[in-house]
Amino acid sequence: MAHSRSPAMHNAAFRALKLPYVYLKFRVPVADLVSALRGVAVLGFRGVNLTIPLKEAALGFMDRLTISARRVGAVNTVTFDLGTIEGHNTDGEGFLRSMCGEWGYRPRGMSAVVLGAGGAARAVVFALASAGARKIAVVNRTASRAETLAREAARDTGCNVRSVRPLSVGAWQDLLGETDLLVNATSVGMRGEPSPVPVSALVPRLRVADLVYNPPSTALLRAARSKGARAMNGCGMLVHQGALAIERWTSLRAPVMAMRRALLRSLPVQ
Ligand SMILES: NC(=O)c1ccc[n+]([C@@H]2O[C@H](COP(=O)([O-])OP(=O)(O)OC[C@H]3O[C@@H](n4cnc5c(N)ncnc54)[C@H](OP(=O)(O)O)[C@@H]3O)[C@@H](O)[C@H]2O)c1
Repeated sequence: MAHSRSPAMHNAAFRALKLPYVYLKFRVPVADLVSALRGVAVLGFRGVNLTIPLKEAALGFMDRLTISARRVGAVNTVTFDLGTIEGHNTDGEGFLRSMCGEWGYRPRGMSAVVLGAGGAARAVVFALASAGARKIAVVNRTASRAETLAREAARDTGCNVRSVRPLSVGAWQDLLGETDLLVNATSVGMRGEPSPVPVSALVPRLRVADLVYNPPSTALLRAARSKGARAMNGCGMLVHQGALAIERWTSLRAPVMAMRRALLRSLPVQ
């Protein structure tokens, strides 16, 4: 929470929309979540964002959950409408909007490999599957989590989602050779780690999305660009998941460009 970029983005959005709103951050222990939510609802807050560990803890305290919050298993945005506390998850839709905005990319009929099986990976897999992806492979360090995610996403969306363990360089080359989109939804890259996939398996026709936004360039993104592939970091997703929250709270179209500028200004210069 200490490094959250949300106050900068959201306050820029309110200024651009000329709304007399302010976005503040509070540290709330899990044990106090219910009283904090009830309190801010009574005080007239339009809504709140939640971050780890409250995202998961909030699931049990909402009056209503959207389908994406239920599927992802986490609430990142809360709205208070007529006394009803509703939990949303805007990460998956934010990811789709960022790919559409930056690449004009739509997942229908495409194949994807998603690295990770945590909250971000769940949001991305369910969003791609619901948007008509042809097939999705989930790869995760802890194989059992990838198996659970693939099984649930296949069951709930009807998409061909499977978990795979490409252990050799050759297996990675085969897997990525037949893939349109590679998404890194693990935290690998946040601390300057090497690429989570062998560089020799990256090919020019791949689009590579890394959900890491700080640092803005990771070893995976640099390797993808060096191979002629299109690559984008997680800034677009962060902006769009926030824009969707603004739209839920205000019923206004979010000023995405102002939010992106504020986010970029808030990140350390590389
Ligand atoms: N751009 C955005 O808007 C946005 C939004 C949400 C998240 N994110 C980013 O997405 C990433 C994941 O977030 P999350 O919320 O999904 O976290 P999470 O629930 O804690 O999941 C972390 C994932 O990373 C994997 N992982 C962690 N360390 C690893 C390592 N050393 N080697 C291989 N795999 C490793 C974990 O594998 P195991 O299951 O084996 O532990 C798990 O799949 C973070 O970098 C976060 O900043 C970005």
